[in-house]
Amino acid sequence: MKEKNQVREHWGGSLGFILAAAGSAIGLGNLWKFPYVTGQNGGGAFILVYLLAVLVIGFPVMVCEISIGRSAQSDAISAFQKLSTGKSGVTHMLGLFLMLGACGLFCFGKYGLAGIFFLVALVIFRFGWATVGILSVVTPFFILSFYGTVGGWTIAYFFKGLFQQLNFTDAASAEQTFATFADSFGPAVFFQLLFMGITGSVIWFGIKNGIELASKFLMPLLLVFILILIMRSVTLPGASAGISYLLTPDFSQITPHSFLAALGQAFFSLSLGMGAIITYGSYLDSEKNILSSSLMIIVADTFFALLAGLAIFPAVMAMGMEPSAGAGLAFQVMPLTFNSIGDHLGWLWSAIFFFLIFIAALTSAISIAEGCVTCLIDHFRFRRKNAVFWTILLASLFGVFCSISVFNWNRLPALQKALVWAFGASDNSLFDLMDHFSSNYLLPLGGLGISLFVGWQWGMRHALTELRKGGSEVTDINFFALLAGLKDDPLSKGTHSLTLSLILGILIRFISPISVILVFLYNIGWLSLK
Ligand code: TRP
Repeated sequence: MKEKNQVREHWGGSLGFILAAAGSAIGLGNLWKFPYVTGQNGGGAFILVYLLAVLVIGFPVMVCEISIGRSAQSDAISAFQKLSTGKSGVTHMLGLFLMLGACGLFCFGKYGLAGIFFLVALVIFRFGWATVGILSVVTPFFILSFYGTVGGWTIAYFFKGLFQQLNFTDAASAEQTFATFADSFGPAVFFQLLFMGITGSVIWFGIKNGIELASKFLMPLLLVFILILIMRSVTLPGASAGISYLLTPDFSQITPHSFLAALGQAFFSLSLGMGAIITYGSYLDSEKNILSSSLMIIVADTFFALLAGLAIFPAVMAMGMEPSAGAGLAFQVMPLTFNSIGDHLGWLWSAIFFFLIFIAALTSAISIAEGCVTCLIDHFRFRRKNAVFWTILLASLFGVFCSISVFNWNRLPALQKALVWAFGASDNSLFDLMDHFSSNYLLPLGGLGISLFVGWQWGMRHALTELRKGGSEVTDINFFALLAGLKDDPLSKGTHSLTLSLILGILIRFISPISVILVFLYNIGWLSLK
């Protein structure tokens, strides 16, 4: 499987990179999760908090990931190895700390967690900061397992729409249709494998001819589709309630919980915390402007989340349904809504809607898998085709277990018993477990590692050198001069002015790690603010 050193493939252009990274960010997190999380957290006011989280945490971590990747020009594992300078005191301390934690957990009978702590401590002792990079070969399998399952549902529902099998007109049969489909595992597994196969076949063709080409074609298509859906949605009778629900912030709904929920959502939606963006950044060449690319990716992702809200809430309200309906919102409520229009074209709208989610999920799944594929190629010297084959095969196998146990454990009782023995409590199903474990544990930890690494190990000096390549006119702008429209005024430049790079440094070193720690503590239940 050895391959000779080759010239590293790069994105054809800035636009290709931005579209691919935006394609990674825009996915089920925007079109399926964002509307229902917003619905459960009170609408407009939550959106404001979300925007703050994106700006204060999402933006700096995105910049860190792209800078690490581009500077190292390699997969995530090698990137951390290349960029860390000899000092390993901190990582040894952390390893020791985890070892002690493992002993404590073992004494309390938490064998599973103790095992994990022990293993992580060993990995940290051995690999130091590269442990953060190792997440990019571990996390994809957890995320892809449930992501592929939902991706499969979108294909299945696309066909169901086309073949007029979504013609139900009441909530009970919508629910029934979904439950029957997801629980009868034959078709669900078939479509999950199909989704993974399509994902694999795009990555097979590499960066420029695979991912970039697909993104350039699919992302504009996505925009067109969602605009059509919004037009349909906002012209339904009664839709204006949904629009005002989104645009009227009710601050009494803001609790510490919604603040933290917004942080978590920002993380997942922007594809941060597992090296996916490090990987995409490693295919970027040095004339490209990292700061402005990051900004565009983030704006595009947020824009799509808001568009998804605008497509879904007016429809939900017009149907007299609850915006807080939860994860079933997309698969049950939308076909029902389309059928209620009464123009006998419900099947077509449903088909369009699920095709749209499928495209978004595909370009995201590609990026999740590519993190692992690039590691196998760069670090373990696989050929691309072999790397893709093994990654997709393994992730699909994990995914099969997820799709046969979506609602409950009854097809995997032995696994459930083992998990209960090791960890005590367990989720409703393997599907839920994978979702929670990756979103609540792995991503925040990865994000924390990334911002600490850039802020305190690699150092802002190096990061800034990387940012200035292709972007010096942006990094050194006086922030207030920029706001005032005076960025080109010679007198507004000065050595003591508040430049964008200074703000970024403070965000990276303090604000984002502290916020991520808060999210993490909240997610594992050690912090509760009521
Ligand atoms: N951001 C994608 C979404 O919103 C999911 C995703 C793609 C992702 N790549 C990722 C999440 C890497 C975390 C890490 O659906």
